[in-house]
Amino acid sequence: MAIGVGLVGYGGQFAMGKHHADNVRKTDGLVLKGVFDVDPARRDAAKTEQPDVVVYDTFEALLDSADIELVVLITPHDTHAPLSIAASNAGKHVLTEKVMCLNVAECDAMIAAAKKTGKCLSVYQNRRLDGDYLTVKKQIESGTLGNLFSIESSVNGYWFPAGWRGVKKSGGGMLYDWGAHLTDQLVQLMLPARPVSVYANFHYGGHDVDVETQTTVSIRFDNGVMAQIDVGCVSWLTRPRWLVRGEKAAVLMPDWETCTLRGMLNGSEQQMSIPVEASAWERFYPALSAHLNDGAPLPVDPTEVRIALSVIDAAFESGRTGRSVEIAP
Ligand SMILES: NC(=O)c1ccc[n+]([C@@H]2O[C@H](COP(=O)([O-])OP(=O)(O)OC[C@H]3O[C@@H](n4cnc5c(N)ncnc54)[C@H](O)[C@@H]3O)[C@@H](O)[C@H]2O)c1
Repeated sequence: MAIGVGLVGYGGQFAMGKHHADNVRKTDGLVLKGVFDVDPARRDAAKTEQPDVVVYDTFEALLDSADIELVVLITPHDTHAPLSIAASNAGKHVLTEKVMCLNVAECDAMIAAAKKTGKCLSVYQNRRLDGDYLTVKKQIESGTLGNLFSIESSVNGYWFPAGWRGVKKSGGGMLYDWGAHLTDQLVQLMLPARPVSVYANFHYGGHDVDVETQTTVSIRFDNGVMAQIDVGCVSWLTRPRWLVRGEKAAVLMPDWETCTLRGMLNGSEQQMSIPVEASAWERFYPALSAHLNDGAPLPVDPTEVRIALSVIDAAFESGRTGRSVEIAP
């Protein structure tokens, strides 16, 4: 029997509820059964776009339904921990959108709640399947770059952080938004190496919001690599998407679609264009289904996302204190 899925949050900003619905529907072993959103207008949108599923009037009603075995949270960031813990306590599997939650303490509480019932807890870190990231990962893993010492990863532009994205108490701000993807990608590239210290700068301004509109976070890993992420919505010009440097070669991606490799390659100094890998977000739900139905490994292990959250915690503390912050092993 396919596992019944309930979506919580059916928002209009990026149509992410619809995105999850479409992907669940394409996945063997999962079946979309229900939707809930606190906003009646978004419930109406769900009724129109998902006419064959139950649209619940309350979160509790969705949790009470035996049809729903997996709860997918697609809501503002401050709600992920409480909704996830409630769903785990109700005996459901949980998949939460990024950012998993606001800090390591919330993350630990979510993991503990899932452990109590033995149900799954995972995070939609779909940008581990982005083509640009997969391209950089492949170059690092191939050893082409030699001894790696520096990674710079940036997503910047000029846009208004709309709705809850511009509200601190809702978990808005650039670090929880794009930063959640970029810190997670760095952790994945570096594992089993761990982050040991963080220094961060936050800029507030340029838009009428109470969240940071730009942040630069420098992260030292215990393998000697110095990484930097730079995310912002107040940059009229941008840094490259990636610059990854090793002693033998470096990879530059000025944007999402172009990649240059330069260095000592096959015994001589060379520069060449590298094909950019295809993005593969569609692999996520089949991997989750394989975990739930066949015991395959979890596609995203929350204990690894916890490492990225420890970087985010340290970055906020560094921003507050102006000091470098150590991360406990
Ligand atoms: N992985 C990605 O590529 C990606 C892309 C965009 C958004 N997201 C994530 O998706 C989540 C939602 O972002 P969005 O862009 O869809 O926002 P949104 O504002 O478009 O939608 C959020 C929806 O949640 C509803 N909501 C708020 N509180 C709720 C609650 N307690 N219970 C039920 N519904 C509630 C709102 O009414 C709204 O309809 C965030 O975690 C965001 O980071 C991820």
